[in-house]
Amino acid sequence: MSDLRTDLDDLSASASARVAGSETVAAVDVLRHELLGRSGRLAAVMRQLGSVPTEERPAIGQRANEVRRQLESAIAKRLKELESGDLAERLASEAIDMSAPGRPLAGGHLHPVQTLMRDLREIFHAFGFEVFEGPEIETDEYNFELLNIPADHPARDLWDTLFVAEPGSVEARQSRPAEDGTILRTHTSPVQMRAMHALEAPIRVLTPGRCFRYEAVDASHAFEFFQVEGLVVDRDTSLADLKGLLEEVARALYGRDVRTRFRPGYYPFTEPSVAFDIGCLVCGGEGCPACGRSGWMTILGAGMVHPIVLRNGGFDPAEYQGYAFGMGPDRMTMLRHGIGDIRLFFSADQRFTTQFAEGR
Ligand code: DAH
Repeated sequence: MSDLRTDLDDLSASASARVAGSETVAAVDVLRHELLGRSGRLAAVMRQLGSVPTEERPAIGQRANEVRRQLESAIAKRLKELESGDLAERLASEAIDMSAPGRPLAGGHLHPVQTLMRDLREIFHAFGFEVFEGPEIETDEYNFELLNIPADHPARDLWDTLFVAEPGSVEARQSRPAEDGTILRTHTSPVQMRAMHALEAPIRVLTPGRCFRYEAVDASHAFEFFQVEGLVVDRDTSLADLKGLLEEVARALYGRDVRTRFRPGYYPFTEPSVAFDIGCLVCGGEGCPACGRSGWMTILGAGMVHPIVLRNGGFDPAEYQGYAFGMGPDRMTMLRHGIGDIRLFFSADQRFTTQFAEGR
């Protein structure tokens, strides 16, 4: 029956176009089902074969098989195209550009307080000072007694102390420790005594280190902080030497134009004692909240080594003199960068610390 032949021709033409136009593997599968499935279009034609006159059947059957093969191969071809297209696309999307530069690794850098301490080492090195370090856990004897701060001296109030109760534990107390009590050093001054016991005159040492105090923490106080101590012992040293040295150091750190002044101070281990100020870096000396409206900021304490301290260190005060100074690099770093809160130094907050990645 020529009707069936026409159906087959139509099917062949339209189906081939639809297979070729399918955009996805899933669409081709749907189409395969629609055309070649058991209740598909080709099967529908075949079911009508019984109504075709016997002599026409072989030709129509042959034509139907031709169309089946043709559709099968069109479907297989299209699937292959789509699959290799998908693969090409995937490969393109996963491609690695071997020539692209690598991502930079985030490198570490010095903490701004450490940078300042390194600068201090360098500056003092130029004046002939060598670094001499002492322990963070100290004895009462070295931290106080030998520095002319006896147990009942009111000056002890200046150094609220953390006492080590037993190995591995730190107990906060403000009373005197047990006989053999050890403490966390409240300043680096005990290293003066250790240097005098270890070295011969002339002594010129710089002793940087961590210190601890029983302090309530706020924007300008921490219970853990740094100091950099200096000690000179020689036969012919004077307060004038100390003044000249500290003025040069201030210029090296804060610039040639920095203003400086010395004020009388009090420390049990120096006589006379001085406080050393620089002109406020925030307001330039006019007075602002950062300098307590005075126009000045104190950066260190200093003085001529007390005769009792020299004697405790093994030097005859009739023959030797010395000067000493102690500064707070945390505070000096705050001044250098205009940082308003000391707690930032211990915060480990990268938004803060990475601002100092250049070192200075
Ligand atoms: N040790 C003192 C303190 O912690 C600082 C100090 C003052 C150190 C005068 C000195 C000095 O060497 O001579 O406050």
